[in-house]
Amino acid sequence: MGEFVVRGGHRLDGTVRINGAKNAVLPIMAASLLTDGPVILRDVPRIRDVAVMADVLTALGAIVERTGQSLAIDARGVDRFQVPELLMQEMRASIFVMGPLLGRLGRAAIVQPGGCAIGDRPINLHLAGFQALGAEVSEDAGGTLVVSPRLQGAEIHLSYPSVGATENLMMAAVMADGETRIRNAAMEPEVVDLAQFLERMGARIRGAGTPEIRVRGSAHLSGADHTVIPDRIESATFALAVAASGGTVRLENCLVDHLPGLWEYLRVLGCSTRFDDNDAVQVECPSEYAPRAISVYTGPYPGFATDMQAQFMAFLLKVPGVHYISERVFENRLGHAAELRRLGARITADQRVAMVYGGGLLHPGTVRAQDLRAGAGLIIAALGIPGVTHITNSAVIERGYENLAERLATLGADVTCREA
Ligand code: UD1
Repeated sequence: MGEFVVRGGHRLDGTVRINGAKNAVLPIMAASLLTDGPVILRDVPRIRDVAVMADVLTALGAIVERTGQSLAIDARGVDRFQVPELLMQEMRASIFVMGPLLGRLGRAAIVQPGGCAIGDRPINLHLAGFQALGAEVSEDAGGTLVVSPRLQGAEIHLSYPSVGATENLMMAAVMADGETRIRNAAMEPEVVDLAQFLERMGARIRGAGTPEIRVRGSAHLSGADHTVIPDRIESATFALAVAASGGTVRLENCLVDHLPGLWEYLRVLGCSTRFDDNDAVQVECPSEYAPRAISVYTGPYPGFATDMQAQFMAFLLKVPGVHYISERVFENRLGHAAELRRLGARITADQRVAMVYGGGLLHPGTVRAQDLRAGAGLIIAALGIPGVTHITNSAVIERGYENLAERLATLGADVTCREA
């Protein structure tokens, strides 16, 4: 099992460029299945999840080639509708191919994605939406088959603004007859980026980024050339690493408007932030934090992103005061609290709520990354601890961060990643 080895206690200084967004590129890669034309995607991070999605597309008959930070996707040969079981197990986001396959081939099959480290993560909203579009869904112990020779535009009300369901349904609806309205849609920037990619392919979509998305179906979509938006969670991770470790770091290619809430919290706690236009920010850690108790509630965009909750918790451990974190998106996403306690952190937590007693001293140790963002949180905590901390199960962190150890090291951190 690979591990990150962090010798903490160094301040971070310098400049880091933020990569393209994992959560934008994965559905966009899946959407490439909707066309026979050439697709070029730019600023695609070199991360495990992108490699798995490339394997999924290849298994379905597409050709995916990487040159530098770009991907060329040729989906002319796509003729298979079943995602191989091993790939499905490796990455839940494989479900994104269901919408496009339904639109392109009239059928899609997956094995059950099942639970994961942060909760059950059902796909009922995806399937109910496909049914509303006229598809037949059959499920058995082995998996799910969705079939529809021809999709029909429909009114769909999501009972929760699920990011994945909004994206999957948008991708199916672009090939349906007539208009589809998705109400209570997710408003995340990655949904907007997917809509922009689909529009470049010739789709007609209105309202992405608002709670009501309207999609007018087309019989044919063409290829497209698209640059993926910067990864807001990577931006938050670096910003919180600086805020927790000390120093001054400039984040470039960071769309600051995509992180509502974060900058205000940092300022309230004494950090300073200086924005250049809308795509760079300089974060400076104070010599002393403002002694304030903070309450954070995660929620759908523009709420506080659940994907930065673990990193924020690690930062709050440095700030004197009793802080409250309520995880409202996933039912079991506070597992990192127990790992942080192994480093001496004072945190009480159940599955949804944590009290963080900040300002205490932590000590080095060995902890396990349970999932991608939990792992990032553990690295942030370790950066502030003099001595050597080991974070095992590094592969889950590499699912979503490209060269994290090297990039932190260029800022002055002492971090290495040892492969298994
Ligand atoms: C996406 C992101 C993930 C992020 C999450 C919330 C990608 C690849 N992943 O995941 O990093 O943490 O958004 O911002 O973009 N739900 C249902 N039924 C469904 C679908 C979802 O009950 O059919 C529930 C989930 O269990 C969860 C909540 O809705 O409690 C949010 O899930 P959702 O927004 O769908 O997240 P993902 O798209 O899986």
